[in-house]
Amino acid sequence: MQRYQTEVLPVNPLYPEPTVIERAAELIRQGEVVVFPTETVYGLGADAFQPAALERIFAAKGRPYSDPLIVHIADEESLRLLTPAVSAQAKRLAEAFWPGPLTLILPRGPRVPDLITAGLQTVAVRMPRHPVALALIRAAATPIAAPSANRFMHVSPTTAQHAFGDLAGRVPLILDGGPSEVGVESTVLDLGSPVPTILRPGGISLESLRAVLPTVQPPRRREATGEATQAEMEAQRVPMHSPGQMLIHYAPAVPLLLFEGAPEAMRAAMLNEAKQRQARGERVGVLVADEDVTTFQESDILVHSLGNAGAPEQIAASLFAAMRALEAADVHVILCRSFDERGLGLAIRDRLLKAAGGKTFHSA
Ligand code: TXA
Ligand code: MG
Repeated sequence: MQRYQTEVLPVNPLYPEPTVIERAAELIRQGEVVVFPTETVYGLGADAFQPAALERIFAAKGRPYSDPLIVHIADEESLRLLTPAVSAQAKRLAEAFWPGPLTLILPRGPRVPDLITAGLQTVAVRMPRHPVALALIRAAATPIAAPSANRFMHVSPTTAQHAFGDLAGRVPLILDGGPSEVGVESTVLDLGSPVPTILRPGGISLESLRAVLPTVQPPRRREATGEATQAEMEAQRVPMHSPGQMLIHYAPAVPLLLFEGAPEAMRAAMLNEAKQRQARGERVGVLVADEDVTTFQESDILVHSLGNAGAPEQIAASLFAAMRALEAADVHVILCRSFDERGLGLAIRDRLLKAAGGKTFHSA
């Protein structure tokens, strides 16, 4: 793998400086990779039409080639380069949600490199709404393929500092446009199957999609989902290998236990678990909402509030940063509460379940 002296360049998130954008665009045109902000999470971008540049993405992330990439565009005309036919459904969705956190799975055109599609007959496309992302794509004058700018299997970065933590020395340039607004990745919607189906819940909710296309189906439940036994809770997680569809994904580097139930019972169970672990000498971090914080005060538990439990956009925006903060604080375990599944809540639950290895701890 190539080593770089990674440069972090601040960029105005609303009015990106043309000189900064040009530096990054030149690297993209030269076949290099660049980390840039989007409204969801930071992306690790390369020219979608240069296979050698795409290889650098996989090398920098340590990502297997079996995991396909999302192509980012700045105008709908660019769809021509990627897909032979845009269906009426796709047009309506693009009209309603682009630019924004919706990724559409479309039939693949002949020019799309195999490295992007992992050999599939489809290609994932989205038009981000972050001014820096849009300016970069336009200046590079090419669609930009970009996964999240984290090392493979780690939590997605919502700040330039997170991306630096994972990719320092592995990329030449990181554009720092401040924290990502949405905080969870885009919704991935499959339009190739008979009924449009969400493959990954994200920044555009099921409810919003259905307002435009009533037939949209929620993601299929994963088999491994279920209640955890106490033994499973304590067991070190073993990464599973079924690329692209991994249940353990977006995981912090420490085990995360996900609690469910009525708020009162959930808090009591979390406090109990935390105290037992502290008694054994473990450092414990908890991820909760504002309303839960007082339960955990006056203990050595590291408490992190994700925001107002009734405001999923707050929870989503702070979730990955909070996981990383507890990780950096060297806790042995993270105990996390769950949230309502409506709206953005579906994506929040998905990321929490993935971090928890698909298991939940139900407190009656
Ligand atoms: O918000 C986002 O989507 C961020 C920002 C940077 O745009 N990107 C992102 O990329 O999350 P990545 O690579 O971390 O996740 C892409 C997801 C993966 O779950 C991948 O399996 C799926 O999109 N995907 C890509 N191409 C696909 C295809 N042709 N069919 C089905 N799923 C696909
Ligand atoms: Mg990712």
